[in-house]
Amino acid sequence: MAKVTVTDHPLIQHKLTIMRDKNTGSKDFRELLTEITMLMGYEVTRDIQLTDIEIETPVVKTTAKVLEGKKLGIVPILRAGLGMVDGLVNLVPAAKVGHLGLYRDPETLKPVEYYCKLPKDIEEREMILVDPMLATGGSAVAAIDVLKANGATNIKLVNLVAAPEGIAEVQKYHNDVDIYVASIDEKLNDHGYIVPGLGDAGDRLFGTK
Ligand code: PRP
Ligand code: URA
Repeated sequence: MAKVTVTDHPLIQHKLTIMRDKNTGSKDFRELLTEITMLMGYEVTRDIQLTDIEIETPVVKTTAKVLEGKKLGIVPILRAGLGMVDGLVNLVPAAKVGHLGLYRDPETLKPVEYYCKLPKDIEEREMILVDPMLATGGSAVAAIDVLKANGATNIKLVNLVAAPEGIAEVQKYHNDVDIYVASIDEKLNDHGYIVPGLGDAGDRLFGTK
């Protein structure tokens, strides 16, 4: 079974509480999401490979560690996933960024794909799929289906807030995908919204409704 990691560092919990508050506006919401994603990125990239290089400090020649350069790919699920890209790209500037457009039909709650542009060599990359919300899990399962159909074999899923139902759904269909979340909330309501959640992440990020 894939691993579920809850990145509940005090700074993340504090910032997430501000994001949940309905009185927090788009500017703060965006900035906090970037900050939290960077903090989560510390855990998400923990197993990244290192290699030794020779350098010369002002004092002596030595061997020191640098990233091996294994290729990373970041794929936000549009729209809300866009809010998590900068936080990871700030940490790993060489990562390539794909885009996957999915929206959740408000009646059926099923994901509908409307855009897909991925790095061409995703079979060689570790792919990090990002979306702030994991609710029913339908969007994440569909997005992982698309990544795998395009050749990806090494995928991590990073969400800000998850419902237990969404985690179970991803584990049911893709139990090779490790999941990183800042919070596992209580449940879904009758409209498929996460409770307590933070509302519609895309609308809050971009000021729409
Ligand atoms: C939201 C969210 C996820 C999805 C989660 O996107 O960003 O992609 O819903 O729900 P699920 O787990 O039940 O599939 P939405 O469809 O509202 O699109 P948006 O990002 O464009 O607002
Ligand atoms: N999508 C969101 O943006 N929020 C939820 O609570 C559920 C799905």
